[in-house]
Amino acid sequence: MNRKNIKIKMDQMGFDYGSIIETVLTTWNHDGTVNAAPMGVIRNPKDQIIIKPYRSSNTFRNMLRNKEVCVNTTQDSEIFLKTAFKDEGLGLFPIKKGDLLLEGSDASIKCKIINVESENTNRPEFTAEIKQILTKKRIPISFNRGRNNAIEAIIQASHIRYKSNERGEDVKTDLINFNYNIQIIKKISASNSTEMKVANKLESLIEKWRLVK
Ligand SMILES: Cc1cc2nc3c(=O)[nH]c(=O)nc-3n(C[C@H](O)[C@H](O)[C@H](O)COP(=O)(O)O)c2cc1C
Repeated sequence: MNRKNIKIKMDQMGFDYGSIIETVLTTWNHDGTVNAAPMGVIRNPKDQIIIKPYRSSNTFRNMLRNKEVCVNTTQDSEIFLKTAFKDEGLGLFPIKKGDLLLEGSDASIKCKIINVESENTNRPEFTAEIKQILTKKRIPISFNRGRNNAIEAIIQASHIRYKSNERGEDVKTDLINFNYNIQIIKKISASNSTEMKVANKLESLIEKWRLVK
């Protein structure tokens, strides 16, 4: 894919230079299965994608071992929920057989890792070169505050889970932010909406993690 086409598509998909875009990365596990995890990524001035996974993540290990990574975009909070908390048995995330394409995503950007910096720090930085962008034709999505709040609440929940496992980490601010997002979802979302289901599931997960602690 040439640079001009990459530029056009990345602009169309809302990847502003330097802004963090919340995506779901798919990578190859050592046993040939696919791992999916939400990660914020940044488009740099060379139209490459910068990824900063924690060293403790599967995504970090997978990208070091196998240079293939796919950046999937979606606004579906259920996909973020299931892929953020895979060990909670929330259900599968469908993957196209033999590939890294996450089914249900709006676009999949196939990339190759070309550089790793600060490999030994807590948050190494990977540079990924875009090889192919697959977009799915679909009707434009209208804005729904609840969708943003649901994804925001998943981010807060992942901080709370991480800190609940670390000694001496205070989750007070994360809990305030979490509760704020849940409150908005409950105010504006329909009872059978995806956002409401995500909110209810997150609340029970938080309760469980805090009890286990
Ligand atoms: C929207 C969103 C963005 C996230 N961004 C990052 C990130 O940039 N780097 C990171 O290490 N974890 C990030 N996380 C947390 C990881 O997704 C989470 O720790 C996940 O369990 C890692 O999965 P893995 O171990 O399979 O890679 C994010 C979570 C959410 C919900």
